[in-house]
Amino acid sequence: MTTFDDEFYRDILAGLAVYTDSAFVRDILATLDRHQEPGIAVALNRNQVASKRWLVDTLHATSGGRYGTVMILGGWIGALGAMLLHDRRFAIDRVVSIDIDPRCVDVARSLNATHVATGRFDARTADMRELDHAAEAADLLINTSCEHVEGFGRWYSRVPDGQRLVLQSNDYVAVHEHVNCVRDVAEFRAQAPMRETLFAGERALRRYTRFMLIGRK
Ligand SMILES: C[S@@+](CC[C@H](N)C(=O)[O-])C[C@H]1O[C@@H](n2cnc3c(N)ncnc32)[C@H](O)[C@@H]1O
Repeated sequence: MTTFDDEFYRDILAGLAVYTDSAFVRDILATLDRHQEPGIAVALNRNQVASKRWLVDTLHATSGGRYGTVMILGGWIGALGAMLLHDRRFAIDRVVSIDIDPRCVDVARSLNATHVATGRFDARTADMRELDHAAEAADLLINTSCEHVEGFGRWYSRVPDGQRLVLQSNDYVAVHEHVNCVRDVAEFRAQAPMRETLFAGERALRRYTRFMLIGRK
């Protein structure tokens, strides 16, 4: 049986970048050249991209596409930031992607090189539970890593009342780092109460179900 090396797949990606004239695919290719980071393959796998696509489409349908600063917490290697900034339905001034893991900054900046160049994307290392959301106001706060946050209540209690939010979590308890899974949407809503809920739903993926809430705290 023939096996294919990295170059085989990379060349196909390069071909797709040309065909679709996609700055995002070009940034992905450059990031693969610069960073030996296995997380890139996970962050851009089918389930992850389907979950982010669900978020982007539902956010646009429920709340429109115009935002000032969008802050993404637990932003990992910046894939969601890239998807939002490359999406022509959206007019976003700036995305800030924050992660507790210091290895994420360089990879996230590389994956978003197109928008780093115009000052519309930056990545930072911080523990979301220590952020002062009142002092550093964001038009929209997104946390797609709720299942990863130990002491979730400590973070959520610091989010100002009235803050626009998009939250995702899941029931994938088999993953060691998932310390804060929920069983269903009802449990998620109890964990992150909102005074106005624009969307509350679930999406079955291979191996787990992802949950999403959009609204105002
Ligand atoms: C594996 S990733 C993302 C998973 C998620 N399903 C997604 O795609 O958005 C989870 C990220 O949350 C980050 N994280 C966990 N606890 C955090 C905290 N207290 N503050 C900031 N980032 C945190 C981790 O470092 C990791 O990069």
